Amino acid sequence: MASNFIFYHLLFHLVFVFLLATNSEAQPNKSKGSALIFPIRKDPRTLQYYTTLKVSTKDNHVKVVINLSSQLTWFNCDVYNLSTYQPIICGSEKCKNAKTEGCMLFCTVCKNCNLPKKPGCTNNTCSIDSYNPFTNYLSDQGLGEETFFVDSTDGLTTSFNYKSPKPFQFSCANPIQLRKLPAGTKGMTGLANYKISLHTQMSTLFKLPHKFALCMPSTSSNIPGHMFVGGGPYMFPPYSKDIAEELISTPLLVNPQSTAPLYAAGEPSKEYFIDVKSIAVDGKLVEFNSSLLSINQVGDGGTKFTSIFPFTYLETSIYKALVSDFTKAAALRKMKRVASVAPFGACFSSKSIAKSQTGPVVPLIDLMLPDNQQWRFYGGNSMVSVNEDVLCLAFADAENKPNPKTSIGIGGYQLENYLIEFDLVSSKVRISTSLLLVNTTCSQSRLML
Ligand SMILES: *[C@@H]1O[C@H](CO)[C@@H](O)[C@H](O)[C@H]1NC(C)=O
Ligand SMILES: *[C@@H]1O[C@H](CO)[C@@H](O)[C@H](O)[C@H]1NC(C)=O
Ligand SMILES: *[C@@H]1O[C@H](CO)[C@@H](O)[C@H](O)[C@H]1NC(C)=O
Ligand SMILES: *[C@@H]1O[C@H](CO)[C@@H](O)[C@H](O)[C@H]1NC(C)=O
Ligand SMILES: *[C@@H]1O[C@H](CO)[C@@H](O)[C@H](O)[C@H]1NC(C)=O
Ligand SMILES: *[C@@H]1O[C@H](CO)[C@@H](O)[C@H](O)[C@H]1NC(C)=O
Repeated sequence: MASNFIFYHLLFHLVFVFLLATNSEAQPNKSKGSALIFPIRKDPRTLQYYTTLKVSTKDNHVKVVINLSSQLTWFNCDVYNLSTYQPIICGSEKCKNAKTEGCMLFCTVCKNCNLPKKPGCTNNTCSIDSYNPFTNYLSDQGLGEETFFVDSTDGLTTSFNYKSPKPFQFSCANPIQLRKLPAGTKGMTGLANYKISLHTQMSTLFKLPHKFALCMPSTSSNIPGHMFVGGGPYMFPPYSKDIAEELISTPLLVNPQSTAPLYAAGEPSKEYFIDVKSIAVDGKLVEFNSSLLSINQVGDGGTKFTSIFPFTYLETSIYKALVSDFTKAAALRKMKRVASVAPFGACFSSKSIAKSQTGPVVPLIDLMLPDNQQWRFYGGNSMVSVNEDVLCLAFADAENKPNPKTSIGIGGYQLENYLIEFDLVSSKVRISTSLLLVNTTCSQSRLML
């Protein structure tokens, strides 16, 4: 069955790729598929996820870290030939549009720069706030625009290098911002719900529904995971069904108080919050103060997505309760506890744990969502191997995080091998089951040979 499917699709691919090759000659800048597709890779050292943008020419591959909490795309412009770069003029319509959100310090000023003139150094430029968390450094940057090239998909196959009908807005990084980025990456791209976030600009430019989906890879191999902009179908061979048809759906919540380091007074959060009602371990509810799971008037509490944190963090009392309940459930399963390895709070001998297609066989962790739905984590997403002999519960205590206003931040490790769609048209998040459960993963070559 599976091999028939692969054969059928290989055949389909070959025909399809041939058609595209001829077609794309005729219309080099028109997107063919129903959605755009971007690769996502994981940096093994920093555990950050990054994508690749093709700026100015299809050969300028700009690797940028994905940040679900921020708005701007910025990178080191100096290492690319951006021959059609244009600054956004101070006070222009485009400038006003970009500044309607997330603007605090440099909202009314224009950015000037001393020679030499180059992308990122122009006079009378639209300035935009830019924050570097590593240095806690706030600067103003000039907004500019360039042509982009994108790949499109029908959900299964990819066709390459469509030119954006209009340029895309970003800024050129201040060198200080480049410190501590994963090797090979040159900047960051913001995926929070702002007007100038990558997905908002892309769906506007290509007239696609305002949706994007992440499928994060669990390995740093050459085969990437993907981000889709514009919706499904989402095919992950050898699984033969469209994952878009099998997602649970839960509303996005509005946090009335911004959670960004910079914001205008009264601005709601642009991050993605969902209504986690409770947490269960092997079907049993974890006991903690559940008011921590609601968002209060000053914007504290609740649950958000945050790919920048490698592991989901939990407010300290929730974390302690989870570790305690998980440890009890693990003992019932005859898992042998060993000394904890920082920063993790519960570690086990890997010899005492069986393996399955969904990873180590350990107590199941469910995030309970409205309408009796649950987001279930199996061992592949709940246990991390710290060495050959030891597996640890892959959740972190928020105590060790800077300013954890939010009680639960769902981090990268828990997103891997799930397809997660952020639908900003109907304000919903849609989540697949673990792709491991249906014998596939987010890492797909999609014939990018
Ligand atoms: C396609 O791109 C070419 C330049 O590469 C441009 O001259 C043409 O107007 C574009 N066509 C459309 C429909 O955008
Ligand atoms: C991601 O963006 C948010 C919002 O701007 C910021 O607070 C956070 O520090 C950023 N993370 C990194 C690693 O840059
Ligand atoms: C930059 O690219 C443009 C257009 O592709 C080309 O004409 C120009 O020579 C390039 N400049 C450099 C320094 O490579
Ligand atoms: C911007 O204007 C100032 C003052 O006129 C000038 O000294 C500077 O060279 C200009 N910068 C650029 C990049 O043209
Ligand atoms: C539960 O947490 C809320 C918010 O932190 C706090 O106001 C309340 O007093 C707590 N209730 C209990 C019983 O600890
Ligand atoms: C995945 O593989 C397992 C074991 O090989 C098998 O039992 C199960 O039916 C498969 N599931 C799907 C959805 O193909």
